[in-house]
Amino acid sequence: MRMVDIIEKKRNGLELTNGEIQFLINGFTNGSIPDYQMSAFSMAVFFQGMSIEERVYLTEAMVNSGDQIDLSGIEGIKVDKHSTGGVGDTTTLVLAPLVASVGVPIAKMSGRGLGHTGGTIDKLESVKGFHVEITNDEFIHLVNKNKIAVIGQSANLTPADKKLYALRDVTATVDSIPLIASSIMSKKIAAGADAIVLDVKTGSGAFMKNLDDAKELAQTMVDIGNGVGRKTKAIISDMSQPLGFAVGNALEVKEAIDTLRGQGPEDLHELCLTLGSHMVVLAEKAADLQQAREMLEESMRNGKALQFFKTFLAAQGGDASVVDDPTKLPTAKYTIEVPALKTGCVAEITAEMIGIAAMMLGAGRITKESVIDLAVGVVLHKKVGDFVQQGDALVTIHSNRENVQEVIEKIYAAYKLVEEKVAQPTLIYTEIH
Ligand code: URA
Ligand code: CA
Repeated sequence: MRMVDIIEKKRNGLELTNGEIQFLINGFTNGSIPDYQMSAFSMAVFFQGMSIEERVYLTEAMVNSGDQIDLSGIEGIKVDKHSTGGVGDTTTLVLAPLVASVGVPIAKMSGRGLGHTGGTIDKLESVKGFHVEITNDEFIHLVNKNKIAVIGQSANLTPADKKLYALRDVTATVDSIPLIASSIMSKKIAAGADAIVLDVKTGSGAFMKNLDDAKELAQTMVDIGNGVGRKTKAIISDMSQPLGFAVGNALEVKEAIDTLRGQGPEDLHELCLTLGSHMVVLAEKAADLQQAREMLEESMRNGKALQFFKTFLAAQGGDASVVDDPTKLPTAKYTIEVPALKTGCVAEITAEMIGIAAMMLGAGRITKESVIDLAVGVVLHKKVGDFVQQGDALVTIHSNRENVQEVIEKIYAAYKLVEEKVAQPTLIYTEIH
C-alpha cells in the first residue's frame, strides 16, 4: 500500500477501506508517513468528506493508536459526558456527583488543557488537598465504593489524534466535521465509557457558530458512537452567552455547589437536569427521561447530590468542608463592580469576550506552562433578556491586581444593550439520536 494512492483516492472523492485507513493512521503515528502527506490527506477530507463507515474506521484506528482504559472492573453501565467547548461551562462539576448520587458509576478521565478557564481538574484543585494523581486500581476501587472518581488523563491516550490535531491546527483543516467528530469520539471511546452523552454547543461562544453545523457534528458523533457499539445521544445547547453566572475556577466550584443544592442559575440547572436525565436513562437506572429527572431533582432537594460531592472530594484528599463553607475556597484580593453605562435590555453577551476577560485576569492558560490563578474570574449579574438601569452592576470582577481597566473594556465590548425588550434565548435546541 502507498500513501500517495490513498491521498489520490480521497482527493477523487472515493471511499477508503478499513485497511487503508488503518495503514495511514498507523504510519502517521509511528512516523513512517510524513506530515506533508498527512496534510494533503486532511485537506482532501476537508473537501471530499467521509462516509459514515470511513468515520467509524478512522475513529477506531485512532482509538487503537494508544492506551485504552479498561473499566470492566467497575460494576454497572459507565456513562461519560462531553461538552464541545464553551465559556464558564460548569456542567461537569455538577453532573458527576448529581448523576452518581442516583447510582450511575462516574469514572471520569479529565484534562487541564488550554482555555479561558482551567479544565475540570484545575477547577477541582481549588479545593485544598484535592488531587487526581491516583493509580488505575485506586480509581476503579473508588468508583465501585463511591460511584464517582476523577483521574488525570493518561499520557498515551490516542496519540494519533494528538499528532493529527496539531497538524490540522497549522494546515487550516480543523473545521472538518468528520475530523472533529472522530477526534472527540476517539478520546471518549479510548477512555472506556459504555455510553456517551454529548452536549454540542452552538452560538457565538462555540466552535459551531450556527445550528445546522452543530446538528451535523452531533449526528456524526452519535453515528460514530453507535457504530462502534457505544450507545450515544446528543443535545444541542446554546452558547450565545456564558452558561450560568460564574467564569473562573473557584468561582465555578462555588456555583456548582449552589447548583447541587438546587439553587444554581436557571440555565445551568436546566442543562444539568437535561444532560443528567439522558445519562441516567443510558445507564438504565430509570425507565424514561421524566423518571430520571424526578430522581435527580429529588437528589438535589434531599442533599444526596451534595453529600456525593463531599464524599468524592474527601476520597481524593480534598477538604470537603468547603461545600458547607465556600469562603474556604481561594478568594481574590479585589472585587470590582462594572456598572451599566446606560439603561436598556441585554441583547447579547459575547461569551468569547467574557472568556478572554477571565483569561486576562489569570483564570486560564495562555501556554501549556502558564500557572493559573484559581481565585480570579468574572461573575455575571445580568444575562440576555434582563432589563438594566444605568449604574446597575453588569458583572463583578474578581482580581488579584488592582488595575483591571483592560478587563473592564472587554466586559463593555461583550455586553450589548438595546432599548426594546429582548427574549431569553432558547437553551436547548434539539436532541439527536
Ligand atoms: N476538539 C477536539 O478534541 N478535536 C477537534 O478536532 C476539535 C475540537
Ligand atoms: Ca458558569
